[in-house]
This record gives sequence, structure tokens and C-alpha cells, in this order.
Amino acid sequence: MLALYLLVFTFAIPVACDRCPQVCVCDNLRNFVTCAKKNLSEVPSFMPQYTEKLNLQGNYLKVIESRAFISTPYLTHLNLYKCSIETIQEGAFRSLGRLLYLNLGYNSIRYIYQESFDGLSSLLHLNLEKNHIEEIRPGAFNQLGFLNNLNIGNNFLVYLPDMLFQGLIQLNVLCLSNNMINIISYESFAALPNLKKLSLDHNELQFFPTDALSRLSGLIKLELGWNPMTVIPEEAIQMTSLKQLYMNNMALQEISFKAFEKSRQISFIDISNNQISTIQPLAGVKQLKYLNLTGNRIPCDCQIRQFKEWVDSSKVKVDLFCFGPDHFHRDHLDSLRAIDLKCGQFPVETYNILTATEKTPEKKKCPLNCNCKSDVKHVTCDNKLLRQIPQGFPIDTILIDLRRNKFDVIPKGSFLDMKNVVSLHLQHCDIRELQPGAFLGMKNLVYLYLSNNQISDLNSDVFQGASKLEYLFLDHNNFVKVPKEMFVFLPNILSLHMEHNSVTSLSDMTGAEKLRWLYLTGNNINSVRPSAFRNMKSLEKLYLDDNRLNEVPSHALKGLPMLSELRLSKNPIKNIGNGAFLPISRSLQHLYLNDMGLLKVSNRAFIGLGPHIKSLFIENNKLEVLPDMKSFSGLEVINLSNNPFRCDCHLKHLHRWINGLNIKVGATCAVPNHMKGQKVRNALFSTCEEQTSDEKNKKQE
Ligand SMILES: *[C@@H]1O[C@H](CO)[C@@H](O)[C@H](O)[C@H]1NC(C)=O
Ligand SMILES: *[C@@H]1O[C@H](CO)[C@@H](O)[C@H](O)[C@H]1NC(C)=O
Ligand SMILES: *[C@@H]1O[C@H](CO)[C@@H](O)[C@H](O)[C@H]1NC(C)=O
Repeated sequence: MLALYLLVFTFAIPVACDRCPQVCVCDNLRNFVTCAKKNLSEVPSFMPQYTEKLNLQGNYLKVIESRAFISTPYLTHLNLYKCSIETIQEGAFRSLGRLLYLNLGYNSIRYIYQESFDGLSSLLHLNLEKNHIEEIRPGAFNQLGFLNNLNIGNNFLVYLPDMLFQGLIQLNVLCLSNNMINIISYESFAALPNLKKLSLDHNELQFFPTDALSRLSGLIKLELGWNPMTVIPEEAIQMTSLKQLYMNNMALQEISFKAFEKSRQISFIDISNNQISTIQPLAGVKQLKYLNLTGNRIPCDCQIRQFKEWVDSSKVKVDLFCFGPDHFHRDHLDSLRAIDLKCGQFPVETYNILTATEKTPEKKKCPLNCNCKSDVKHVTCDNKLLRQIPQGFPIDTILIDLRRNKFDVIPKGSFLDMKNVVSLHLQHCDIRELQPGAFLGMKNLVYLYLSNNQISDLNSDVFQGASKLEYLFLDHNNFVKVPKEMFVFLPNILSLHMEHNSVTSLSDMTGAEKLRWLYLTGNNINSVRPSAFRNMKSLEKLYLDDNRLNEVPSHALKGLPMLSELRLSKNPIKNIGNGAFLPISRSLQHLYLNDMGLLKVSNRAFIGLGPHIKSLFIENNKLEVLPDMKSFSGLEVINLSNNPFRCDCHLKHLHRWINGLNIKVGATCAVPNHMKGQKVRNALFSTCEEQTSDEKNKKQE
């Protein structure tokens, strides 16, 4: 202490430097400064000079100017989360050579310039998640030689150029989840010798980026789930240290049994929720302990007998639930014996032909302007100013990517010979019209992407011949209604995306018996006919948020016995009446009622809803009181924040209930005045029980 005093004294630092900015709270003993949520529009120009931790979260900074932190050279922690930052000028952090943690999450940054992070030579942890980053210049991280953890999740990255991460020689954990990455250049991940964990899930990768990932010789865990890949070819995965690999929820049809041969350390593989229909013993995976095959389409018949024998002898734990035949349907593979895996009427030879993966040596044709990748059976003709659907695709093509062209109309029979295609991408193509029979011949089509076009109507015959279609994306088009007959040729449809169209009302949608997920967010829906969802007896998720409903469409919810998630957020619903959710009370688990301007929830509004409700969102409304919630005993998430609760005796039951929960609730009192801002959980209701009427009198005085 004395030393510090002397130091300050000796250097005669001007008093101004040690002043605490008016809106901030300074803890000079521990060198913390907090100016969170003060609506500051710039970084305060002075600060206690020895400040080590500075929290500016929740302000309104827009631009971080060059040398913004010149007055605080001792900073180790800087929090700029949720500050509406759009631009970081070059050299903004140049004076912060001691900074260890920098949080820039939840801002609106679009570009990372080459010198954005100059000077941060000690930085360990950089958070850039939830921004609008489209581009990062190679070299941007050049000076971050100590960085350990980098999070760029939830941004708009499409392309990772060569040498992007150059300089990050200590980087351990890299998160790139939830972007739109579809191209990874060969040298993108060069020079990351210490990377142990990489997350690339929820992107748009169509094939396994073998070359780029092979550079990561130290990588142990790789998350690649939720990318639209269809095939993993031989030796695709060449990562010498890799132990855990996640490839769940993709569009995989086929995995070569030699796919993992060059990754000999692998011990955990998750390929759950794909479209795999058969599997052979995996070659060269001596360390494998666990393989997840849940949610695929693998029948337990003679085709997998060899696999089962391999599982039994190698002691790999495998989760696989039989997709058939009928007598084994949904049985776990563990419960069966290899000798019982038989193929009824078909001779074994047929299957061997079906599963053979040898390549035909002859050179395959490929349409002009397209790139045909024969190993993964993908064709890409993305952004080529095409005006007509190219012809002459290789016959074994599984995925066709035609995004960002200008087709206007898709004529009948455009894909006539494409009987192996599983996934067809036609986003951003200025399509106005799909002619009847447009997809004729596509008898294996499962995923059809038509987002971001100008389609306003559909004839049911459009889907003729594409009867395996399960996932249909029609979001961001010009529909004013859901075409009445559209499901006629879609007997297997599971998921329909119609977000961000201009649908105004919902009436009968016929024949969608297998539909599980219906997304109608961001339309103009103001009425839902009672019969709107007739026959949708498999519907599990219904997104009606961000529309113009002014009441819960309870009548239309009848006959939806499987509905487990209902989103009604951002509709101008003021009241929720008694029994609003009664028709779905047995199945409902997740209910979204936030941001609606709700004034009142009737006493018996939640009747029927009980312990199976897992999440309930009621934040950002105008509720002063809520009915008894005792029956909600299985909640995992609830959000009651930003409601003006009136903490008088009427709220005592809510208070008591909240106190019995061990989850965060967020309810605060707004009235009466002396309780304003207090948590409902902590508010005192001690006088209520016996003196309810007294209290009322007092209030009136
Ligand atoms: C916050 O600051 C911005 C611009 O400086 C201003 O437009 C806005 O009204 C302020 N909000 C509050 C709540 O003070
Ligand atoms: C296997 O996958 C299923 C479906 O994704 C998942 O629910 C389960 O937890 C996974 N098992 C393990 C051990 O990771
Ligand atoms: C509840 O909602 C508020 C307001 O939208 C949000 O800030 C908060 O993070 C939410 N809390 C939880 C636990 O989800």
C-alpha cells in the first residue's frame, strides 16, 4: 500500500486520471470499474489509471475508436458485451498489452480488419459471438500469440480463407458454430498447432473438409453436427489425434466403412439423426468405445449382421434402434443376436450390390459452369448467373447446389433423371413459379430448399413424383396463404418452413398426417380457422410467433395430440382466457408467450397444464399478477422478467411458488412504490395471511 502511495506521489499523476466517471462505480481497492447499462455513447475519457477490470456491458457505443482505452493501460478484463458496437477502428486496443479477457459478444460488428486487435499481445480469451461478422481479414489475429479461446459463433461467416487464424499458436478452443460457412479453404486452419477443440456445427458445409481439417494434427474434439452433408467418403477423416467426433443431425445417407481409417485415436463417434440405412464394420478404429446411430434408418436384417458380429467382438458400445423389420422395430441392437438378423424374401446378394461402394473408373460428365465432385457425389453451380436448370448431371449425384442463380420459372421435368438426389438447393434464385411436375423423377429427394425466392402460390402437382420429400423450405417468399392442396403429393413431409411470408389467415391444410414441425414465424396471420390443422396428428412444433393474432387459437389446437412446443411470442394478444391450452394440455412441454403486451392471464388459463411443462416464457409483457402455478412442477426454464408485478397480497401465492423453485425466474415488483425493483422471490408478504383486508384499507388511505 505504501509503495503504491509513494509511486503515485512520486510520479505526480494528475488527479483527473484517478477520478471515477460520474455514472460508474469504482472499487479502487480491487481496481474494478463498472459502468454497465448506463446508455453511454462513448468510452469515458478518464478512469482511475490503475483500473484492471472494466465493465461497459449494455451501453450504446457504436464505434470503438482508435486508442479508446489509452487512459487505462493496466486493464486485464474488458467487457463490451451488448454495446451496439458496429465498428472497431484499427488500433482500438493498441494500449492494452496486459489485457487477458475481451468480451465483444452480442454487438453488431460486421468486419474484422487486419489491425482490429493490434496490441493485445497478452490476450487469452476473445469473445466475438452473436455479431454480424461476414468477413475476417487474414492476419487479423496475427498479434494474439497467447490467445487460448476464440469464440466467433452465431455470426454470418460464409467463407474461411487461407491463413485466417495465422498467429494463434496457443489457441486451444475455437468456436465457429451457427454461422453460414460453406467453403473452408485448404489452408484455413494452417498454423493452429495447439487447437484441441473445434466447433463447426450449425453451418452449411455440404461435404467433409478433409484437407483443411487434416492440418489440425492436435485436435481432440470436433463438432460438425447440423451441416447438410450427405456422404462421408473413404478416408475422409484424417486427423491423427481426434478422439471425439460429432456428426449428428446432418443429411448423411452413406458413410464409407473406411471413412475413419486414418484417425486411429478415435474413441467416440456420434452420427445420430441422419438418413443412414445400412452400416458395415468400421475399419481401423481400434480405440473406438462408443458409436451413436440413434435416429437413423437401419433395419436389423442380414445387411448388418457382419456389423453386429463386429460390435460383439470388438466391445464397442453402439446405440442403434432397429428401423425394421416389423418384428424388431425399435429394438435396441444389444437385445438381438447376430444369427437372428435375417433378410426375409431377398437373397443376400441383392444387398451386397446395393451397398457396394467401388468407384467406376470412367470419366463422368459434368454440366458447364458446375463443379462435380465425384467422391462425394455433389454438384455445385452456385452463383453462376444461370437462367436455366443445367442438364447432364452425373447420374449418381446426391446433392445439387444451384443457389444464387436467376431461374424465374422451374419448368416441368427439370430434374427428370435425378433419381438419386437427396438434397436440392434452390435458394436465392428469383424463382416466381414452379410448374406442375417440376421435380418429377426425383424419387429420393428428402430436402428441398426454396427459401428466399418470390413464390406466391403452388399447385399441388408441383411435387408429383417427389414423394419422399421430408423437409421443405419455403421461407422468405411471397405466399399470402398456405396452398390448400400442397400436401397431396407430399405423404412423407415432416418439416415445413414458411417463415417470413405474407400469410394472413390459416384455413384447412389437408393431408399432412406425418407433419411434425410447422414454422410460420413472421407472417401476418390474424386468424386461424378451427379446422386449420385438421389431420395433423403428428404435429410436435408449431411456430406462430411474430404474427398478428389477438387471441390464442385454442379451437384450432384440438386434434393435435403430439404438440409439444407452441410459440405465440410477439403477437398482440392481450388476454389469455380460461382453458386456452386445454386441447393440448397432455402433450405441451414448451410454451412461448413472451413479448406480446399481455395484460391478463385468467385464473384458469393454464388449466390442464401440469408437470410435463418444461419451459415457459412470459417475459416482456404487462402482467401485474399471474394465476396459481403450483401444477407446473417439472419446469426447467421459466422467464417472468420485465413484467410490472404488483407485489401485494394477490401475489403471495406466486411468491411462495417461486421460493419453492430452484431455478432463476426473473420476476420483479413494479408496484407498490417501496417494493419497486425488488425480486418477487425476496419481497416480504408477511402481513398478508391474516390481515388481507387491513392491507387493502391501508392502501386506500
Ligand atoms: C440512449 O442514448 C441514445 C443515443 O445516445 C438515445 O437515443 C436514447 O434515447 C438513450 N436512451 C435512454 C433510455 O436514455
Ligand atoms: C445418442 O444420440 C441421441 C440422439 O441424438 C442422444 O439423445 C443421445 O444422448 C446420444 N447418446 C450419447 C451417449 O451421446
Ligand atoms: C429472460 O428474458 C429477459 C428479457 O428478454 C432476458 O434478458 C433474460 O436473459 C431471460 N432469462 C432467462 C433465464 O432466460
